[in-house]
Amino acid sequence: MPPAFAFALPFLTGGVTLFRRDDPAEGVGAPDDLGAAGGHVPVLLEETLAALAEGAPLGGPAKALDCTFGGGGHSRAILERFPACALTAIDTDPDAAPRAEALAAEFPGRVTFIDANFGSLAKLPLGTGFGAILFDLGVSSFHFDKGERGFSFRSDAPLDMRMNPREGMSAAEFLEKASDEDLVKALRDYAEEPRWKAAHRAILAARGTGRLSRTLSFAELVAEAVGTHGPRRIHPATRIFQGVRIAVNREMEVLEAALPAAFDLLAPGGVLAVISFHSLEDRIVKRFMRRLAGMPEDRFDNSPQQSRVKRAELHQTKPVTASPEEEERNPRARSAKLRALTRL
Ligand SMILES: C[S@@+](CC[C@H](N)C(=O)[O-])C[C@H]1O[C@@H](n2cnc3c(N)ncnc32)[C@H](O)[C@@H]1O
Repeated sequence: MPPAFAFALPFLTGGVTLFRRDDPAEGVGAPDDLGAAGGHVPVLLEETLAALAEGAPLGGPAKALDCTFGGGGHSRAILERFPACALTAIDTDPDAAPRAEALAAEFPGRVTFIDANFGSLAKLPLGTGFGAILFDLGVSSFHFDKGERGFSFRSDAPLDMRMNPREGMSAAEFLEKASDEDLVKALRDYAEEPRWKAAHRAILAARGTGRLSRTLSFAELVAEAVGTHGPRRIHPATRIFQGVRIAVNREMEVLEAALPAAFDLLAPGGVLAVISFHSLEDRIVKRFMRRLAGMPEDRFDNSPQQSRVKRAELHQTKPVTASPEEEERNPRARSAKLRALTRL
């Protein structure tokens, strides 16, 4: 692992403020999580394979579904670890398709790729009876590496941030047009920015000026508004970039819709595994899995026990997190949480 080193954006140079580049927060992009050959390093790989194998101890699952293909790290590992398994992979990012095509050529007859959003899982022609289904949520290193996608303020580009740039609203449009409610949700809830009110005021004041249209001008605006604060010296715009990305891609809503649809695709004994990177994301996964396990969703769930139906067994009540070695190797793993269940 290269030593953590500091960097500064052009507008913050001159010895004003330096920020650690090894922070797992995703707004800046995390070049340290690149493998030797570049690309995306899959997180919690062994732990995920172990969870997926649990559903079918004899040789692993016969059919697996990877709902977040990305760079295909988990998909490849599934194909290698379970030699009799046929894999269907989904990704909404058009850049994922050629990577999936290359993997399919390496494993002839075993890979089907579907260019789709997993929010529409229930409508896709997938069949049922999957022994293993995986979600590895969020963005991949490819998104940050390609400056023109507008996920990162490492380089100047149009502020886009869509995982699927063929549809929907770019981040720039979102910031110009979002209702107050949606904007506050992005800044306060998704970004978890303590100084969200200052960012909110600055964004409203900047509407129509062009400052919300590019990665660097927006990062600069946020840095001016919220300043540097908090125990860790992450760049002030990192959290806000994450919050806007989550809002633009409707990540929470899509996840809420996808989890029950995925569960319906599982064979009895099949395993659903989800890796999340944000506390709100993990809360959605946790509550969903506890509900299926016939448990109270959280400590505020007072519904009578006899109204609960147990349809799954949780692999564990606490999520699996990365080992210190993995965190050291791959900073992105620091916020990763894996939860899994087996359908009864
Ligand atoms: C963290 S990456 C997955 C990395 C992958 N497991 C690997 O090892 O290379 C998440 C991927 O999911 C995709 N994605 C995110 N939200 C999606 C959605 N709603 N529908 C389909 N794909 C989505 C992203 O485009 C990204 O490629």
